Amino acid sequence: MTSKEIKIAYQEFDSIEQLETKDRELALAAVEATDLSYAPYSRFNVGAAVMFEDGEIIKGANQENAAYPSGLCAERTALFYASANRPDKAMTAIAIAAAQDGKLCGSPATPCGACRQVMAQYQKKSGRPMVTILVGADRIWRFGKVDDLLPLIFDSI
Ligand code: THU
Repeated sequence: MTSKEIKIAYQEFDSIEQLETKDRELALAAVEATDLSYAPYSRFNVGAAVMFEDGEIIKGANQENAAYPSGLCAERTALFYASANRPDKAMTAIAIAAAQDGKLCGSPATPCGACRQVMAQYQKKSGRPMVTILVGADRIWRFGKVDDLLPLIFDSI
């Protein structure tokens, strides 16, 4: 038997202003995207913003439905839109933010497992690491690649 350990690396910032220009632009877009959320049931407004290799940004927000499982998270709304509309462009980064009662949540917004799996797939499709920025009012976490959020990514095909 061999004991093994997986380490993940990420950076913590105190505020959006501390991020480098491109990261800051994407983080601000994710915060703006919380206003696009349609969340009449949870009232938890999640915004996501995807950046392409050329700097273009596409936003998404969670969309809820009276038939609860028919709704979709902000990250997948943004990623599916991004891939469907710009199928040949590589995605380089995603930022995620969450707000309640019109106020950005203090803790960074962390993506659910299903969204991490979808992020992993588009990272693979893009052929480069997808930087992931989780935005909170109190602190911001920056991951260099999706693998740091989803170790041992499913990758059978
Ligand atoms: N939600 C997201 O948009 N992203 C996640 O990663 C987790 C949860 C949404 C789904 C639902 O509309 C609301 O947050 C409450 O769970």
